[in-house]
Amino acid sequence: MRIRTLYLCYCLCVVGVLLALPAASAAADPYLDHNGHTPPRSDYAGPLFKLSHAYPSGLPAPAMPWRAAIGNAPITVANAPVYVQALKDHVAQDMLALLAGDGGWDPGRRGWFNDPWLGPQREAIHGMLLGHERVDDGLFKKSGLTKPFTTYVITYYNRTAAQTIGAIWRDPHVPRLGGGATQYADGSITVKLAFTTAGPHDWPAMRGAPSWPMMMTANATTGHYDRPTLGKAYLMQLDIVVKDRQSAPQTGWVFTTLVYDRAARPGSDGVWDQMVPLGAQWGNDPRVDSAANPGAPLFESWINRNAPPYALETLGWGGRLSGPNDLGVNDLSVVAAGRRSLVRRAPNSSCLSCHGASQWNPANPAKGMASFMMPLVPPAPDAAANAGAPYLNSPAPGAAAWLRWFQNRAGDVPMDAGSIAGDYDLALTFRVLPAWHAARSGKKPPPQERDAGAQALPRD
Ligand code: HEC
Repeated sequence: MRIRTLYLCYCLCVVGVLLALPAASAAADPYLDHNGHTPPRSDYAGPLFKLSHAYPSGLPAPAMPWRAAIGNAPITVANAPVYVQALKDHVAQDMLALLAGDGGWDPGRRGWFNDPWLGPQREAIHGMLLGHERVDDGLFKKSGLTKPFTTYVITYYNRTAAQTIGAIWRDPHVPRLGGGATQYADGSITVKLAFTTAGPHDWPAMRGAPSWPMMMTANATTGHYDRPTLGKAYLMQLDIVVKDRQSAPQTGWVFTTLVYDRAARPGSDGVWDQMVPLGAQWGNDPRVDSAANPGAPLFESWINRNAPPYALETLGWGGRLSGPNDLGVNDLSVVAAGRRSLVRRAPNSSCLSCHGASQWNPANPAKGMASFMMPLVPPAPDAAANAGAPYLNSPAPGAAAWLRWFQNRAGDVPMDAGSIAGDYDLALTFRVLPAWHAARSGKKPPPQERDAGAQALPRD
């Protein structure tokens, strides 16, 4: 399935790549809106996606009411709920306008912006990108998921954050990464919306969830992997991430996420009131030994225990924050003391440990990110000794090699020497720079999914 989809992605992207061959690089459009596969007017007559890319610059520091909400003190497990609520309130009116999906959403005017270079990967209606091609139904058994699903995502940066995108891509064909260009200013906010193809019929958790029409290239729920086809996907998760070195001095970031809760009562803001916090994370709790004691209390993640049960099924390592869209739970192959053990559905990630791998090695742009996003050991020289996909060759949980991912670093400190730190932005280093590099070199475009197995294991 994976190979077939990669092949399909390849075919779909060929147009974009041909346009982007080096000789024709002037013709490659970094600001292409979408892949051009529009829905039949008889089936969909609404607006199509327009990329928001008039990135601002030179703005003064914005008001940051979420800081005041916690008395300008550091964020803690105790005050995190208030902090998350302040962030949610701050983006509420804009997210309501976006979710309405009725043409009243003018992101540039409201101060929200998208990444360049992803046009060939974006579907035409909402500019959605394929997230995970296939999420296994076994991950959400308790909440009654009966079929696998595909996720589709879109990211918007606020004005403050968009200044960084503008600085990196001042010349859209020659990204500027050095000299601190990748660093975000305090008050930068990124929102990411994640939709699932599993509707109420296949997953009771999605009953009443807001839905959007999309031109889908993959739908693991229906098993349809053909030409772009009009389908419906349901809002499961909405991330709100903020640069805030005052509240989170160690990493400089607070990662928060809202999830759809069918049991929450809609109020005056309708379905927005049913998007409830799953939690917040501002550090990796490097000193908490979750291998020795998986239930050890955390000090740098807050989890809302009243979140809907499906969203609590896929928390990260030791209960660190990770959402249902984040694949923080994986099948691991661990070699310890000369013995290999296969562990199914092991939590091995979290928001900050995964995003902390954001970095770019300019000396090796074909690889870009020097370390994988999750704990990984290089494949053994004896290929037969390696477990195959979906198993990830992992260091033993809690071992030094594993803890490399669970440190607290400032956003300008790369995980690996020789790389430029991406300030926790994975869209930049996992999607946008690879897409730019592929367009520039005329190479096959990067896979559109971040399937752990596909990334980690040798491919030909
Ligand atoms: C296992 C890895 C992983 C985990 C865990 C993870 N993410 Fe991400 N995230 C990614 C990747 C890869 C991207 C870029 C590609 C994309 O948009 O899908 C991304 C993109 C984002 C973006 C868009 C901007 C950016 O920084 O790249 C936001 C916002 C975001 N994630 C928030 C979160 C939050 C909040 C959590 C935890 C609740 C989380 N992520 C957990 C891998 C992860």
